[in-house]
Amino acid sequence: LPQAPLDRLGRPLHDLRLSVIEACNFRCGYCMPADRVPDDYGFDQAGRLSFDEIETLVRGFARLGMHKLRLTGGEPLLRKNLPALVERLAKVPGITDLAMTTNASLLARHAQALRDAGLQRLTTSLDALDPDLFRTLSGGRGEIGDVLAGIAAAERAGFPAIKFNCVVQRGVNDHEVERMAAHFRGSGHVLRFIEYMDVGTCNGWDRARVVPSRELHARIDARWPLRALDANYRGEVAERHAFIDGAGEIGFISSVTAPFCGDCQRARVSADGSLYTCLFSGSGQPMRSWLGDGEAAFSSRLADLWSRRADRYSELRGSVRAPRKHVEMFLVGG
Ligand code: GTP
Ligand code: 5AD
Ligand code: SF4
Ligand code: SF4
Repeated sequence: LPQAPLDRLGRPLHDLRLSVIEACNFRCGYCMPADRVPDDYGFDQAGRLSFDEIETLVRGFARLGMHKLRLTGGEPLLRKNLPALVERLAKVPGITDLAMTTNASLLARHAQALRDAGLQRLTTSLDALDPDLFRTLSGGRGEIGDVLAGIAAAERAGFPAIKFNCVVQRGVNDHEVERMAAHFRGSGHVLRFIEYMDVGTCNGWDRARVVPSRELHARIDARWPLRALDANYRGEVAERHAFIDGAGEIGFISSVTAPFCGDCQRARVSADGSLYTCLFSGSGQPMRSWLGDGEAAFSSRLADLWSRRADRYSELRGSVRAPRKHVEMFLVGG
């Protein structure tokens, strides 16, 4: 086996976030605004790795110590026969955690098959509960009722606590924060508020729209007192808090005001098989052509790449050394 690599900042390759499709049925303004990413954008079915290629790639990553695999998109449920892929990936030796990030709009019809195939956990994006605001934030394409039906189906299918990601933007959905917290208190699920980030090139990021986690924490804590919890594992991106009254857990992801690059052990691979060593990488390393030589050859090339990684964009943000060009969020799935 090739030596499990550390990158130039001493970080192991622990997680893989693998996009299975770059298309999405939503057009969230912070990720793929409809005016910048139209329906005829050029989504490329032929460019996507096949299930065989994906399995080889995942086995290659697992040989280097990758334990956590997360399927992402775009919207992963748009990929045909996804449960068949999940079934293959769930059997790869070394993978102890298999999760998926989805907008849940199509989950009602797929939840049971995914669970049966061996998917262990779900994370769902959810930025508002108000039906009109939800529709607006999804670019006019999403219905909150479909998402809630998807969640209910996931509960029935036996998925454990779902993590909900709420990207908060000042003046856009920050007035929904208490309503969201109230909705998820006592539900057994975990809501996390995410600071709005300058991902990609088309979301028109404006720092004034970032709501710092400390401000949200103060608002929640004033209404329902909170107690800080320890991280579940090294490098966890969410700061965890418990409601003191026993109504469960809530989290804050603060990559703008409190960057966590020091412990970043995540690799990202786009649907066409390019490696991005940071969410803010300017370009990826195409790897598809390496897969033909098998997983062992693949993993030694990957080890070489990882050992040269030095990304820490969130720590450099705003400085002259921060890269200016960023991969689009919908290509690497967050
Ligand atoms: P698990 O530990 O697998 O449950 O997931 P998680 O808590 O890491 O959450 P998830 O992977 O869903 O990430 C939540 C959000 O945090 C993402 O959608 C991003 O917005 C942000 N995030 C995750 N990883 C990174 C990262 O490496 N860098 C930055 N800047 N943001 C990240
Ligand atoms: N800032 C913060 N989080 C984002 N996500 C997508 N775009 C952004 C952004 N600009 C997160 C969403 C979604 C996940 C795929 O990525 O919360 O859950
Ligand atoms: Fe689609 Fe998720 Fe991007 Fe929204 S954030 S447009 S649901 S990929
Ligand atoms: Fe990792 Fe890049 Fe995010 Fe820093 S900015 S935590 S290096 S993905």
